[in-house]
Amino acid sequence: MSTLFTDACFNKKRSRTPVWMMRQAGRYLPEYRALKEHYDFLTMCKTPELAAKVTLMPIKPVNPDAAILFSDILIVLPPMGININFNPGPVISNPVKNASDIFALNNFSPRSELAFVSSAIKTARSQLSSNKALIGFCGAPLTIGAYLTKTDSKGQNFTELRSLFYSDKRAAHRLMDTLVKIQSGFLIEQIKAGVNGVQIFDTWAGSMPRDIIKEFVIPKVATIIKNVKEFIRNENSDKDVPVIYYIKDAVHVFDLLHLTGADVISIDEKVSIKYALTHIKGNMAIQGNLDSSILFASKEIITKEVSSILSTVPAGRGHIFNLGHGILPETPVENAAFMISEVKRLSKLLHD
Ligand code: CP3
Repeated sequence: MSTLFTDACFNKKRSRTPVWMMRQAGRYLPEYRALKEHYDFLTMCKTPELAAKVTLMPIKPVNPDAAILFSDILIVLPPMGININFNPGPVISNPVKNASDIFALNNFSPRSELAFVSSAIKTARSQLSSNKALIGFCGAPLTIGAYLTKTDSKGQNFTELRSLFYSDKRAAHRLMDTLVKIQSGFLIEQIKAGVNGVQIFDTWAGSMPRDIIKEFVIPKVATIIKNVKEFIRNENSDKDVPVIYYIKDAVHVFDLLHLTGADVISIDEKVSIKYALTHIKGNMAIQGNLDSSILFASKEIITKEVSSILSTVPAGRGHIFNLGHGILPETPVENAAFMISEVKRLSKLLHD
């Protein structure tokens, strides 16, 4: 299925820039907060009718070009044998502490253990209009590994995983490779269920040193993407499905990102798209990168900042407009809707 979103991901010609927002199905929406009065977060993720309902919730009020499946990157932890709760941040009662814990992780089958995700995708896809894409996702091995090993509930230094990378490389590779296998299978199941694109979230990879990223991030993400693309070529050949790789704080490794084989690189707001396009090699499309805080500013400022991003992308280069990170819970819905309508209006002028 071709949509504005998939055309932009594959650098194809299109009439305007597609736009959606990371974390668009969530707490800034009053309808979501109302539903949350009745169900806890994990119940919503695991009940296909509820997950599909929340997936589609932003479509009417903000009208993005794509919906992202309502779920969480940490949904893979329970079948691995890790107990997780959200309060609202993730709380893990039995984090992985050593090599034997890593070797004991359950290498499960996403097809049966995460069947509720496929079911939510089928329902959401059937209710979404055909000009809008449905995006599936998973967490990248490093970002999942960072939560899985975290024993200190405070802070985001992830020293447990970081020290494992130096102290026990064999166990660290085993952990990343277990996650590569699980996430490849999980994305393939989502594609089988009908998503039109997938995003791999690597929120914490950019906080690691370059050598760690070279050894434990790029080759692992590249293997996931290779597995997914192989599946598409062999069994899904009539419709290619774009893969987006989101990495935050990654300026020190921009020159390595093409090695992942992703169709699209999604960047945060700390650098300009112009800078990213000159330092990221290859001809991948780019996604991003409005600062989420701009959605708290006046309409004039939102228009100015949207226009400034759109004008830096050269004609013909695939661009998917998005925020640099997730939408903030306090964001006025009206401003999010205005930003999206401005991306549509202004990019149409540029493409004409
Ligand atoms: O984008 C969407 O709207 C779709 C659903 C989605 C959620 N989480 C829902 C959610 C997606 C794509 C994610 C990804 C995710 N989850 C990431 C990667 C992207 C990023 O923002 O960096 C990460 C690191 C997580 C882990 C996670 N889940 C955290 C740190 C938290 C708590 C704090 C927070 O940012 O919300 C969650 C909980 C979570 N995931 C909520 C939602 C709507 C809040 C739960 C609630 O409503 O109480």
